[in-house]
Amino acid sequence: MQTPSIVLNVNGIEVIYNHVILVLKGVSLQVPEGGIVALLGGNGAGKTTTLRAISNLLKGERGEVTKGSIELRGERIENLTPADLVKRGVVQVMEGRHCFAHLTIEENLLTGAYTRHDKAEIARNLEKVYTYFPRLKTRRTSQAAYTSGGEQQMCAIGRALMANPSVVLLDEPSMGLAPQIVEEVFNIVKDLNDKEKVTFLLAEQNTNMALRYADYGYIMESGRVVMDGPAVELANNEDVKEFYLGMGGGERKSFRDVKSYKRRKRWLA
Ligand SMILES: Nc1ncnc2c1ncn2[C@@H]1O[C@H](COP(=O)(O)OP(=O)(O)OP(=O)(O)O)[C@@H](O)[C@H]1O
Ligand SMILES: [Mg+2]
Repeated sequence: MQTPSIVLNVNGIEVIYNHVILVLKGVSLQVPEGGIVALLGGNGAGKTTTLRAISNLLKGERGEVTKGSIELRGERIENLTPADLVKRGVVQVMEGRHCFAHLTIEENLLTGAYTRHDKAEIARNLEKVYTYFPRLKTRRTSQAAYTSGGEQQMCAIGRALMANPSVVLLDEPSMGLAPQIVEEVFNIVKDLNDKEKVTFLLAEQNTNMALRYADYGYIMESGRVVMDGPAVELANNEDVKEFYLGMGGGERKSFRDVKSYKRRKRWLA
């Protein structure tokens, strides 16, 4: 089988907020064409910052990439605007969903097509979104504020799809949702990946769920990638199980603590 080409290549990036706070300390990752890559790690690990660096949404947060490079299909993109990136097929679905509360679901979806002008094409796209998210079709005239958390997450993803992206950066799709709904959302992600060939880079604290759907994962801690590998390998890795899948029992420490603890244990044994 041919190895898939790399869509996104993040190469040793550093990100600083407010000119002084160094948050990403040399992050590198690669996303293959047609893949689902999970960016994992606990609170404050740097997942959102990494996604924002890629989609160039750091400025509003007073953040900037100070080192390293980001390439989309081999082309440097650090200096493109978020709108340029949307035109090139890279869209981010923000953490916390951010639907426009006073607009209906359909109006929300249509805002996602703001870079496009072909009305017939937009209408076809809307129908396609509804085939993947039938729940949104039944709620199309409801104000987003009165829909459930799951429907709002679907609306946020559906809106991103209205830009006809090839790469979706999805930030914590499971946040605040019941397990059954998380499963429903992830199944749709998988479906979009299979049938529409949309590539996903998804940030998740829900390691267990993300590794079930992703092909490959990167684990972040304190602004660095501490481990990466095929999803199946990460899901079966003892350290990952102990610290992120909560199967080891006992108190959860940092990933680096575990590794040095294990080294010590081996040393003493
Ligand atoms: N606008 C900002 N200004 C200053 N520091 C920030 C800003 N945004 C994030 N940070 C800091 O950067 C670090 C990484 O945050 P980030 O939001 O990227 O983590 P995360 O992995 O997405 O966490 P979570 O899972 O909680 O969403 C944290 O220490 C956070 O406090
Ligand atoms: Mg985050």
